[in-house]
Amino acid sequence: MKNQMDYGLSWLKFLPDQPSMTAKTPLEAAHAELAQMEGLHVDVQLEPALGDGFSIEKRGDGYLLRGGETGVLYGAYRAMMAHAAGQNVPEGEDAPYYALRMLNCWDNAEGDIERGYSGRSLFFEGGRFAYDPARIRQLARMLASVGVNVICINNVNVHNPAHKLIEEEWLPQLAELAAIFRPFGVRLMLSIDYAHPMRHGVATADPLDPEVQRWWMERADIVYRYVPDLAGFLVKADSEHRPGPFTYGRTHADGANMLARALAPHGGTLVWRCFVYNCMQDWRDTATDRPMAAYKHYAYLDGQFEDNVILQIKNGPFDFQVREPVSPLLLAMPKTHLALEFQLAQEYTGHQIDIYAMPPMWKEHFADMPPSCVQAIAAVSNLGRDDNYTGHPFAAVNLFAYGLTAWNPAAEPDEVIRLWCRLTYGLHGAQEDALHALLMGSRRTYEKYTAPLGLCWMVEPHGHYGPSPMGYEYALWGTYHKANRDAVGIDRTESGTGYTAQYPEALRTRYENLETCPDLLKLFFHRLRYDYVMDDGRTLIQRIYDDHFEGLEEAKEMARVLAALDLPEPDRAVAAERMERQLRNAREWCDVTNTFFYRLSGVKDAKGRTIYD
Ligand code: GCU
Repeated sequence: MKNQMDYGLSWLKFLPDQPSMTAKTPLEAAHAELAQMEGLHVDVQLEPALGDGFSIEKRGDGYLLRGGETGVLYGAYRAMMAHAAGQNVPEGEDAPYYALRMLNCWDNAEGDIERGYSGRSLFFEGGRFAYDPARIRQLARMLASVGVNVICINNVNVHNPAHKLIEEEWLPQLAELAAIFRPFGVRLMLSIDYAHPMRHGVATADPLDPEVQRWWMERADIVYRYVPDLAGFLVKADSEHRPGPFTYGRTHADGANMLARALAPHGGTLVWRCFVYNCMQDWRDTATDRPMAAYKHYAYLDGQFEDNVILQIKNGPFDFQVREPVSPLLLAMPKTHLALEFQLAQEYTGHQIDIYAMPPMWKEHFADMPPSCVQAIAAVSNLGRDDNYTGHPFAAVNLFAYGLTAWNPAAEPDEVIRLWCRLTYGLHGAQEDALHALLMGSRRTYEKYTAPLGLCWMVEPHGHYGPSPMGYEYALWGTYHKANRDAVGIDRTESGTGYTAQYPEALRTRYENLETCPDLLKLFFHRLRYDYVMDDGRTLIQRIYDDHFEGLEEAKEMARVLAALDLPEPDRAVAAERMERQLRNAREWCDVTNTFFYRLSGVKDAKGRTIYD
């Protein structure tokens, strides 16, 4: 078995040991972790009323940390990270903005991970639990150090035999796993199969059927006997062929409330995903516009959910594309508890081969969706069994930043990324500046060489890496751009599909009008001719060409910067090898996209660069 230090602990590298084997509570874990820190003295005082919160005060040569049951551990990590980064230990009070800060793993019981790019599952293999307890403890430390407090360990698409997670055969092992996470204040959550009762002789999964209701009540009683602090269930229903209440003519409030009532006596939360759309669309059908689906299915149900239901909504109305506007549903349900869902797994953003730091993208999101619109936050995990947990060592910045953003949505991307660089690599001066700038710009670069200006979906179908401008054009998924020789995009304004009407007035008018719709989202909302003149005076077609050539050049520059960074092994070698693949990918995207639009439009590049016929 590997020594724990063989596993890249990313930003926690400064903690030499894994001291917390015996810790049973976050307080004990805090003491054990603090004991390792040279040159930092922190007295810890438990004040249960503070919950997840804490306060830090200077006392003589050291500090006094007061915190709630989990707050003491969060405060300890905060102080240690600042100290390790050579910053002042932050004094004063602090508490998380969101009470639930969730990580959703899409791990299958067979050991593969849906949309996983970091190796196989940390939890399962061959249809059963299979994990290294020491490694899970490391994972728990990483999560706790950035404040993540719930981990859902299995895929929202519950494939056989993952349903056993809530059955007696697997529950003792689930309890053991929960016990590893518990001292770090991390609670487990489970994805469940909405139609699970039908595996046990119940004739239906109708949420209004008393037998179904009884089955779930009893099931919840059993599960909580093994894991009394289970955070709850996560459900993907009536989505991409998953079963759900629609089969019985019931609403999603009926379905969610039925499950929530079973969890309520145990203090559990029912998280219900709103990723519901017609995934069998006929491309000839122009009446259906996929981004409108979630709002249509849920907005009218506002106020009809039990108190312990949380509706989990993806950040954009499509599906984790490089650039999407805020999902209008997030702004439309003030009387319902909502969770915002981000995706750390780089499904559409480079598969953890291409460098893509997400915090700047999240900041844009929060500019249009005030954090108070939602009461919880979730992210699809980018973790796996690779030694460094995230495939590309730099992809860890997204998990780190996610935790800090869930704690404080106003966190500055700039500072968070700088802190990660400092803690992970201890670089200084120009070296640190270079890595920081490389990460800060990485999303824009990726955006430039892939689908242009909010268009989405020009990606290779199924795998979602690499270009395929027509790959989704005649498919069932409702993902069309309708490029022809004159124009590209879908008109989603009042004169088109009417999607813009789903937004509150300020956003509606901004997106509705070409003059105010930002250039980077123009092709999400509008159908434009190639000779349309953008805000910056260039024609649309020239802007597409320019962005793609620029994106490729920027990727080359990233490669040069990367090569000059003084990174430790094995990170240097892993990053260098992935950079080569990123360059090939960037070149492919650039050439395929430019050629595609050139062949359609016949318009030459004004700057005479090579576009292939
Ligand atoms: C995307 C992704 C699927 C996933 C789904 C979801 O469509 O490609 O693999 O199951 O999102 O969020 O449920």
